Amino acid sequence: MAEVIVLDTKEAGASLVADHIAGLARTNPAVTLGVATGSTPLPVYAALEERAANGADFTQAAAFALDEYVGLPDGHPESYAAVVNREVTQRLGLDTARVHVPDGTLSGIETAGERYERALTEHGGVDLQLLGIGTTGHLGFNEPGSSFASLTRVKTLTERTRQDNARFFDSLDQVPMHCVTQGLGTILRARHLVLLAFGEGKAGAIAQAVEGPVTASMPGSAIQLHPHVTVVLDPAAASALQHRDYYRWAQDNKPAWQGI
Ligand code: PGA
Repeated sequence: MAEVIVLDTKEAGASLVADHIAGLARTNPAVTLGVATGSTPLPVYAALEERAANGADFTQAAAFALDEYVGLPDGHPESYAAVVNREVTQRLGLDTARVHVPDGTLSGIETAGERYERALTEHGGVDLQLLGIGTTGHLGFNEPGSSFASLTRVKTLTERTRQDNARFFDSLDQVPMHCVTQGLGTILRARHLVLLAFGEGKAGAIAQAVEGPVTASMPGSAIQLHPHVTVVLDPAAASALQHRDYYRWAQDNKPAWQGI
């Protein structure tokens, strides 16, 4: 099962994850990170920016984004290409040539999934994939019903996800209807999954993803099929977990050499 780590604040969780990533980059400067957008991973990027200011070197690292909206004008500040550039590439000092985001441009959208899968495969895959979870349980933009074998493809967002993301746009109407997202099968190929969730609003999705039945109706439950998963939570996001006392016990008694 996944390792579940509950820390008092999201900053503490972010710091743990950033230390681990900085360690990976020390051992392998060409480490490949899978990067997520949304609010959840922002404290990790802030912590990594601090590590970079203190000597961590990410200039040889590569990054692959999970997803992109379809049809936003080139350079739109809420396109995930722009968000990844702003929040990850610039802050960590990545080389833009090594940062990849699915192509959400309308012309050629039919082949966007295939092209992204090819780029991932030719690159050699992702070492560590950061993940958030939607209130619908989505990973990337794989909404309920997505196949666990799915690859990068165009999907339709749920109304709930469009409403959740409307805060980044001037109005709900401006939130795209479609996206290109890595599939659950794509995500499961990453060598280590790190799922982050903070706040009470994520408690239900986290409990179902970590402890509920493995079902396409809860895309987050796909993590139960992966051999190396770390779930990093604050107490509010952990509040609906049935076995949280055990996770705390395991965390407190973990051999230091195990890392995450
Ligand atoms: P959030 O989104 O980090 O902004 O809550 C997570 C997600 O939709 O996967």
